[in-house]
Amino acid sequence: MNANTAIPNIALNNGVDMPLLGYGVFQVEPAKAEACVANALEAGYRMIDTAQAYGNEEGVGKALASSGLAREDIFVVTKMWVSNFKGAEAAASIDASLERLGLDYVDLMLIHQPYSDYYNGYRALEQAYAEGKIRAIGVSNFSPSRLMDIAAFADVVPAVNQIETHAFWQQRPAREVMDRLGVAHMSWGPLAEGANGFFANPVLAAAGAKHGKTAAQAGLRYLVQRGVVAIPKSVRRERMEENLAIFDFELDAEDLAAIGTLDANKPLIANHEDPDFNEWFIEAISSGQW
Ligand SMILES: NC(=O)c1ccc[n+]([C@@H]2O[C@H](COP(=O)([O-])OP(=O)(O)OC[C@H]3O[C@@H](n4cnc5c(N)ncnc54)[C@H](OP(=O)(O)O)[C@@H]3O)[C@@H](O)[C@H]2O)c1
Repeated sequence: MNANTAIPNIALNNGVDMPLLGYGVFQVEPAKAEACVANALEAGYRMIDTAQAYGNEEGVGKALASSGLAREDIFVVTKMWVSNFKGAEAAASIDASLERLGLDYVDLMLIHQPYSDYYNGYRALEQAYAEGKIRAIGVSNFSPSRLMDIAAFADVVPAVNQIETHAFWQQRPAREVMDRLGVAHMSWGPLAEGANGFFANPVLAAAGAKHGKTAAQAGLRYLVQRGVVAIPKSVRRERMEENLAIFDFELDAEDLAAIGTLDANKPLIANHEDPDFNEWFIEAISSGQW
């Protein structure tokens, strides 16, 4: 790891420190997860974002075990899947994640999606948090309204809401609510999964070029500079390094204003407020496809 990759932390609402940048493993094939995560840790990443639904917790765990890094120097995030929310399965699935990861505790565990009996899943997270199996608990894909509800009626206010956030959907209204509730803003899809010509976007490319950086780096820097935790995914080492090298420059007011204009203020990848999307997604969950 070189000095350029020193990753700052943010403090969560329970005092736990979380890195501002991590490595995500959605769509990293289970058989390749160990090698990818080993590469990412070697490149300098210290936070890994996985999920029960990704099917690759075991590979992540193997890479963590063989990394030679101290457990307290790595921040591990996983998520409880919808099919595990009901009854005793919720608590059992936390233990199963720990077992697959080969860990005594995870640093952060999230309710992956706001469907079905997620309150029961969240109560299992609260219990595991009280038992020291999880250092911080939170949610993902929660709209401001759902977040307000769970923050008000659960015992533990979520530490994090992980939501689609990138230059094209900057989530400013949602962020205001998160700030009010003391919930940290974590982005998924920080590179918009490459959609909408992200990597060739002229505004991002120009802002990057001004600082000797790429469009991807400008887009990621924009997020972390706004205090948004980002977890870009790449299976390629050179891109892992590129995405990490964002802490040796700063976007200026002009860059921030220009990138601000890219915000369409609507979902690009997953619209949880759209009944058609929900119908498709619920069908995929129910059939076990997800
Ligand atoms: N909570 C949720 O519901 C949810 C949903 C989606 C994602 N996530 C989390 O967020 C993480 C990141 O989101 P994501 O994986 O969906 O998308 P992303 O990080 O926005 O984009 C990943 C895509 O960009 C490519 N890429 C990465 N770096 C690049 C670079 N510097 N230049 C050009 N191409 C680059 C990758 O290809 P290669 O791999 O081929 O390099 C991949 O196709 C996930 O891995 C997961 O941990 C959570």
